[in-house]
Amino acid sequence: MSEKEETPEGQGSEETPINSPEVEAAVESTGEPEVAAEMEAADEAAAADDSIGDGEQELEDAESVQAAVTNEPEPAEDKGFVASDGAVLGRDFIIPGVGPGDHDPYKWHTGPKQKTTNNAIEIVDVVKQFGRTRILNGLNLGLPDDQISMVLGPSGTGKSVLIKHIVGLLYPDHGDVIVKGDSVPDLSDDDLFEMRKKFGLLFQDGALFGSMNIFDNVAFPLRQHTDKGEEEIEHICTRRLREVGLGEAHDKMPNELSGGMRKRAGFARALVLDPEIVMFDEPDSGLDPVRTALLCELIKEVHAENGGCYMVISHDLGTARRIADFIAVLWKGRIVESGPKEELFDSDNEFVHQFLQADVVGPLAMD
Ligand SMILES: Nc1ncnc2c1ncn2[C@@H]1O[C@H](COP(=O)(O)OP(=O)(O)OP(=O)(O)O)[C@@H](O)[C@H]1O
Ligand SMILES: [Mg+2]
Repeated sequence: MSEKEETPEGQGSEETPINSPEVEAAVESTGEPEVAAEMEAADEAAAADDSIGDGEQELEDAESVQAAVTNEPEPAEDKGFVASDGAVLGRDFIIPGVGPGDHDPYKWHTGPKQKTTNNAIEIVDVVKQFGRTRILNGLNLGLPDDQISMVLGPSGTGKSVLIKHIVGLLYPDHGDVIVKGDSVPDLSDDDLFEMRKKFGLLFQDGALFGSMNIFDNVAFPLRQHTDKGEEEIEHICTRRLREVGLGEAHDKMPNELSGGMRKRAGFARALVLDPEIVMFDEPDSGLDPVRTALLCELIKEVHAENGGCYMVISHDLGTARRIADFIAVLWKGRIVESGPKEELFDSDNEFVHQFLQADVVGPLAMD
């Protein structure tokens, strides 16, 4: 948009000087010096409206001209929210859950409640857009080491997209993802392959290989990423499968297991490389409440034994209460608030309060 277009109506035009014949004619026809002064003032400020014509008509309009000058000018165009790179919301990109005219979509985003140190993972100003849909829009988050962190947020806000950035399956358009001091987008393919050995990953659907039995599924990362012999691999897999309650299921195929058993098998597989970081994408989805509770116990026990940075994505507030040390709430492409579990459940941030109390009243509506 040009500057001229941005100029409020009636301002900025120098085309009609205050001693213009039209203005003088108007003054002569009344003989009133006050009116002349008003007209001059109006002219100086508004540089004469185009509608001013000859004779008495503009005298009748003099008052309204002055009113137009003294009133606040209307903004020429409502741009809405403008991102830090100058892109305009609604014109250059959209954010799920944000209206095009929203000037202040981040009014609930109060950020970290405490500055965390000793972070295993740092997400810095990450922007990620698919087509015109911007899923992450300047996301900042630190995930503390040796804690179980949970990322909560409405469906489709980009929680799975966030995990994929951390493990280098997706790259940010802007910003950085730092894992144990290394910038993931800057890693070479070989270094990325090495870094992934630090990760255990439990995907949303368990993601077992359907053509392999449970033992081979769990052994897969060891055979793929290490030089360990079969005897040692058997020892590790047997221990991990026993740990998740599947000691008797070595020879079963994934389609012979229940959803909960498949999740547990996925968990055993995520742990075999003794990872420093474990990511769980909705470990509890599709499980009944008792199995969800059992899986939460298992995650807590294994974490207590092995330590490391665990990141759990879930919609389940019960899971959050049970296992989280640290909680971050994602909405509109940024973290609304993050901090220790107790502080988040106690938060007076209206959105966080609504989300963590599952309240129908609050900033989040069904859209
Ligand atoms: N590779 C991709 N290409 C295009 N769009 C994508 C891609 N991956 C994710 N998206 C879009 O990004 C948005 C966020 O997806 P994501 O799977 O991260 O949501 P989520 O927060 O994990 O949701 P849920 O809680 O339902 O699992 C969705 O609108 C999805 O369609
Ligand atoms: Mg998801």
